[in-house]
Amino acid sequence: MTDVGQIQDTPQHRKSAAPLDLFADGEQHEREAQFAIYVYQSPIRAWHWLNMFCIIILCFSGYLIGSPLPTLSGEASDHYMMGYIRFAHFAAGQTMAVLFIGRILFAITGNKYAKELFSLPVYKKNWREGFVEQMKWYLFANNQAPQFVGHNPVAQMIMFFGFVLPAIFMILSGLALYAEGQGMGHWMYAFTNFMLLFFDGTLSIHVYHHLGMWVIICFVMLHLYAAFREEIVSRQSMISTMISGWRMFK
Ligand code: HEM
Ligand code: HEM
Repeated sequence: MTDVGQIQDTPQHRKSAAPLDLFADGEQHEREAQFAIYVYQSPIRAWHWLNMFCIIILCFSGYLIGSPLPTLSGEASDHYMMGYIRFAHFAAGQTMAVLFIGRILFAITGNKYAKELFSLPVYKKNWREGFVEQMKWYLFANNQAPQFVGHNPVAQMIMFFGFVLPAIFMILSGLALYAEGQGMGHWMYAFTNFMLLFFDGTLSIHVYHHLGMWVIICFVMLHLYAAFREEIVSRQSMISTMISGWRMFK
């Protein structure tokens, strides 16, 4: 994240310049200045989209674990419906946990934008100013969007409280619930049974794990609204940046 309205524009970062164009009418027009900065490295982009697939599977299968479909007739082991739903949940859950550890490691080794997801620099004056500017833009109190290279401060805060903390909780509580099925001798039980210190038995872990799903669903709805809105009306690219890695500025 850089200062409000102040984009880091160094020759190494620039993909294209914006020269003046001579149009057919003989007049010189300034072509809409557009240049790009490489922001999201490939592991970040791969993590983002794989994580998205895991979350979609986890929300659907988790919802069905909490509110099961009507019982099918016949032997349960013949159709194995809940078995497949729970298997999908556990497979996606453990994939998400491994991907999350990978994302933490990449925050250490990646560029400065890779670290933003886990940091909240509220102690920086320009970050706080950027937050206020971005809020004004979201609340339609400003008619021009501020420009940021990495995440804007409001997105950074919502990602931290709406995704990073809930995701850590979902992984720990999910593994604690899973460990219960594995038995007390299992390494996962030894690793996650500290969760029982904070909760009144596994039933209450179930309840909070379930509530966590709705926190993440609220985050995803806000996130999609902001990503599509900013893609269309702000002065910088958004969704294409999470695909190619390059942020384009108008
Ligand atoms: C965004 C991530 C996740 C979401 C939205 C989610 C959602 C849910 C929901 C809604 C339930 C049903 C709770 C209930 O009403 O009793 C559930 C159960 C469960 N989840 Fe997750 N979960 C997530 C991540 C994980 C992870 C990372 C694991 C680890 C493997 C996991 C393992 C479990 C287990 C073991 C159960 C209990 C299954 C059972 O009792 O049959 N979950 N999950
Ligand atoms: C389950 C669904 C999703 C989750 C949990 C999610 C989560 C996240 C997270 C945690 C980041 C921060 C990435 C980082 O710094 O490492 C992010 C960034 C981003 N996501 Fe998603 N995402 C989801 C779906 C989507 C979808 C469907 C789109 C687009 C159609 C999208 C567009 C973006 C964009 C454009 C950014 C970069 C925003 C910026 O530069 O400030 N996301 N997302």
